[in-house]
Amino acid sequence: MKLWGGRFESGPSEVFERFSGSLHFDKRLIDADCRGSQAFARALQRVGILTTEECATLVDAFDKIRADAGEAAFFDDAADEDVHTLVIRKLKERAGAIADKIHTGRSRNEQVSLDVRLWLREEIDAITGQLARVMGALIEMARRYSNAVVPGYTHVRRAQAVLWAHYLLAFFEMFARDHERMLQARERVNVMPLGSGALAGSGFPFDRSAVARDLGFAAVTRNSMDVSADRDFALDFLYAASVTMLHLSRLAEDWILYSSEEFGWLDLGDGVTSGSSLMPQKKNPDSLELIRGKSGRVFGDFSALFVTLKGLPTTYNRDMQEDKEPLFDAAAQLSGSLEMMAAVIESTHLNPAMPAAAAEDSWVVATDLAEALARAGTPFYSAHQLVGKLVLESVKRGRKPSDWSAEELAAFAPEFTSDMARFLNPSEGLKTRELPGGTGPAAVARALDEAEARLRQWKR
Ligand code: ARG
Repeated sequence: MKLWGGRFESGPSEVFERFSGSLHFDKRLIDADCRGSQAFARALQRVGILTTEECATLVDAFDKIRADAGEAAFFDDAADEDVHTLVIRKLKERAGAIADKIHTGRSRNEQVSLDVRLWLREEIDAITGQLARVMGALIEMARRYSNAVVPGYTHVRRAQAVLWAHYLLAFFEMFARDHERMLQARERVNVMPLGSGALAGSGFPFDRSAVARDLGFAAVTRNSMDVSADRDFALDFLYAASVTMLHLSRLAEDWILYSSEEFGWLDLGDGVTSGSSLMPQKKNPDSLELIRGKSGRVFGDFSALFVTLKGLPTTYNRDMQEDKEPLFDAAAQLSGSLEMMAAVIESTHLNPAMPAAAAEDSWVVATDLAEALARAGTPFYSAHQLVGKLVLESVKRGRKPSDWSAEELAAFAPEFTSDMARFLNPSEGLKTRELPGGTGPAAVARALDEAEARLRQWKR
């Protein structure tokens, strides 16, 4: 079926129909399309196009379509151009001739904007819930290993000792910003476009605010041409989704390394790893690798729509139909990755002795020693040089920090007073970093409590 035709002497070619049809993917919008059309029927009733009975008949028919759409046979040999066309055909089958009134003063250009907004709003609500689960799992793991000390890295070189909980809270902060970005995207999604017509505004005096209230939108759009041309709200979501995937990917990369034999810090649960068809000993981190892999795919979804929109003449162009597949794909991949990451975090164990040994065997304490010297009055540059020499000497003689005694330190340089030897233990340096945002044990305990309170607030 088509929603047009009068102006044509012959129908579309088979190749064009096949090429331009979108039902095979936009059928995902069917529930949103029906709900939007029910609200539109009520708007038509308020302006006198539909009687109360006609409106009730259409609303009931849309409810039946929504219910039937769950059945496999519903979409069988549907040759309709898109989901909006299919829904109107099904409406005619159920409600008869009055179905011909449903599209009064309405364009698919605004309808598609409405449907995508309704669908995306629900996706965002589900995704923010999944983000909260990941953040909750990070907090839970941080509490499980609240005293564990690990080397923090820059350039993949051991840098300074930090608490494992502090490391996990770094990702909590990233996901908290992602959560914020999702809610900001939601605000721009949550605006009601109906009443815009094809581009010029509808010829019928709809109470647009009433339609917005009916569908739970916070506001109405302000310009009909903007509505037909705009997909910013989809881009906002795709950007927020991409940054979230970026963070998931970096966490995945870390844990792939930390669970390797070379690190030996983490044991990933059996349930989230897989074996090799040839090598019997393997336990591979495929779940994390797929999260890392899917991040590239979601960035592709973002750039696909971004580039599609560039240079499009105002207002609607059929190119814009290409918004849906990237959007659907990004939402599905993000949602799947969040679910997977939560399951990984919840089933992963830390072996604290391994990172503790890595911290003790290396010179992650060098900065702590230099800062201790600076606190005692040595200018930092000289302190840096002095500790650098101590490290060089140790490397040459194969000594680690704990091999030095207070006396030996003092003999190496008189600036080292006896109380400074404690900084050869990585746990001592941590205690000097109690300022807000630092890895001191008290600062991290406070940050954990605050993170938990913020999460509780969001879940409300
Ligand atoms: N399937 C179309 C899309 O997704 C609906 C809008 C059609 N509008 C039009 N003027 N052809 O963009």
